[in-house]
Amino acid sequence: MITLSADKKDKTFHEIDSALERVKSEKRLKGVEDRRVASEVFDKRTLEVLYKLSNTGYLSILDGVISTGKEANVFKGLDDHDDFVAVKIYRIATSDFKKMQYYIQGDPRFKVKMSNKRQVVHAWVNKEFRNLKRAYESGVRVPRPFVSRENVLIMEFIGDSEGNPAPTLKEAPPLHPRKMFDKIVYYMRLLYKMARLVHGDLSAFNILNFEEEPVIIDISQAVVLDHPIAEELLERDARNISRDFKRFGVSSTPQEILEKIMD
Ligand SMILES: Nc1ncnc2c1ncn2[C@@H]1O[C@H](COP(=O)(O)OP(=O)(O)OP(=O)(O)O)[C@@H](O)[C@H]1O
Ligand SMILES: [Mg+2]
Repeated sequence: MITLSADKKDKTFHEIDSALERVKSEKRLKGVEDRRVASEVFDKRTLEVLYKLSNTGYLSILDGVISTGKEANVFKGLDDHDDFVAVKIYRIATSDFKKMQYYIQGDPRFKVKMSNKRQVVHAWVNKEFRNLKRAYESGVRVPRPFVSRENVLIMEFIGDSEGNPAPTLKEAPPLHPRKMFDKIVYYMRLLYKMARLVHGDLSAFNILNFEEEPVIIDISQAVVLDHPIAEELLERDARNISRDFKRFGVSSTPQEILEKIMD
């Protein structure tokens, strides 16, 4: 457990550095992969960002790993009111920065030309934050975004009051597949018509089954409708949903899904 309490907020570089060393050596993070995660995720700069974020009230304690992925790790945290939050931290080193650059380039919201890897990752996280916000405000059930800074994004924790995160649809197939399918297609439609976005990586892996309600996550790569690859991504999303729900016993063609989204 890492406590980002007030007395630690004004740390000098040196103190942050030694705090990082303590994290590494004491294995303060819970979970089997503690040591690896701590040394990979909490480089000095990330630790500084976390301390700064602790001033926003959205984060006072980092308490355990939810997921360790290729590019980002997701942690469970507690805010100043002791409510759970989800903290997604991107690793600069292992990010697919070519892909990020490609997606960002076609997006009119990001005008600057980015060549620096760190800059690209920061823009990517900012894109995920803005996509979440747009989706959330359009009525799509996504985690509510709270704040993002550099490579760190803090959002609503999707899970029960004990702090158990909701499983993905892949891990927990729906009890009522048809109902779940209809909700997801409705959210795809809202995302398209209201938020004017295409998710771009939608599948049972990126939808949480929260007490039989779908919650769409991992929206960093989502593109605006006039992005050159928007159509291609929408078709792929429809194929993935059609395929995954076939396994759950709901038959529909990608074409039918696309019609429901666009008509
Ligand atoms: N807001 C949240 N609340 C609870 N759990 C979450 C939340 N966001 C993400 N998770 C968990 O973390 C996992 C990874 O999150 P996400 O899909 O956003 O990251 P990713 O970039 O796809 O990581 P990976 O490299 O593993 O694909 C999810 O499958 C889910 O289990
Ligand atoms: Mg994912």
